[in-house]
Amino acid sequence: MVKPRVKHPRTKHKSVAPKFPVSEDNPLGIDTSPEVIELESFVASDAPPPTQFTPVWQDPEHGVWLYRGNCLSIMDRIAERYPDGVFDMIFADPPYFLSNGGITCHAGRMVSVNKGEWDKSRGPEENHNFNREWLARCQKVLKPDGTIWVSGTAHAIHSVGFAMQQLGFKLLNDITWVKPNPPPNLSCRYFTHTTETIIWAAKSAKSKHYFDYKLMRQTAGGRQMKSLWPDYCHTNEECVPDSMEIMPPANGEKVHGKHPTQKPVALLERIILASTEPKALILDPFMGSGTTGVAALADGRRFVGVELQEDYVAVATNRILDSLKQSHGLFAAPAERH
Ligand SMILES: C[S@@+](CC[C@H](N)C(=O)[O-])C[C@H]1O[C@@H](n2cnc3c(N)ncnc32)[C@H](O)[C@@H]1O
Repeated sequence: MVKPRVKHPRTKHKSVAPKFPVSEDNPLGIDTSPEVIELESFVASDAPPPTQFTPVWQDPEHGVWLYRGNCLSIMDRIAERYPDGVFDMIFADPPYFLSNGGITCHAGRMVSVNKGEWDKSRGPEENHNFNREWLARCQKVLKPDGTIWVSGTAHAIHSVGFAMQQLGFKLLNDITWVKPNPPPNLSCRYFTHTTETIIWAAKSAKSKHYFDYKLMRQTAGGRQMKSLWPDYCHTNEECVPDSMEIMPPANGEKVHGKHPTQKPVALLERIILASTEPKALILDPFMGSGTTGVAALADGRRFVGVELQEDYVAVATNRILDSLKQSHGLFAAPAERH
């Protein structure tokens, strides 16, 4: 169902960097006018923010462009500008559709599972339509040999996998990430949820995707890396090499603010190193706190992030600035809050 268009006052957003024209050095200058359009559908809020087609923060020299708005509109604009695709890889951690009043346990206390408006389910059909819509746009903006990774739990990941099959992606792997120290199940009526699935797929059946087999083998202690992270199958827990463990985000990853579904940088680093070469251009259409950007820049890749919520864009910008400072020794001015 398409929501009726709602008029919103133009909000003033300042960019920390000047507007930029499209050029070889600046391949993502998708718009130089401060155009603001209304969001239409698929945004789980009655008062959506305007989508900006100029980045709210950018550093073309180090390959970073951050946009605030609906990723559907932004990807449409990118696809118009780059009809043959422009991204080498996409990582997407879309809404899980699980914020429907349930409870969970956090730090020993009973808390609501609700993450925000953006995570509310609108029923299986609408949720699936949404997944198809954003995945179709991802497919358009991927280069012919590009790949996409999508993470999720049972609430959304089966729909994502089915939509990928409907759209003609080539499914490469489904990774099971075992999260250490999962919260206990308070109801005692189910098994404790402890895994997340990450589907890896290529743009089409013809894609010749990139995979750094050697590096992954080395990371797995000299054996082929399996799709179970970490691999507890053929060894006991003590034998799992440290390089295989992926812990939840440490406190140091939350110094600029918290995101309810923040991914660990180590998970994104594994994904980026496995599937991209240095300088690759990576998109995260559901950027959240910017974890993909932090990992991409730390590994010498370039990054485009899109996020709906202003406060998360601010967290992401500051985290990415820190990452740039660390990897390039930069001391840029702190990101302006929007
Ligand atoms: C599951 S979280 C991503 C968390 C992220 N991986 C991290 O490490 O912080 C999904 C994010 O997508 C944003 N979002 C939801 N719908 C969106 C849309 N249509 N366009 C852009 N961002 C959206 C939400 O505000 C939320 O921050």
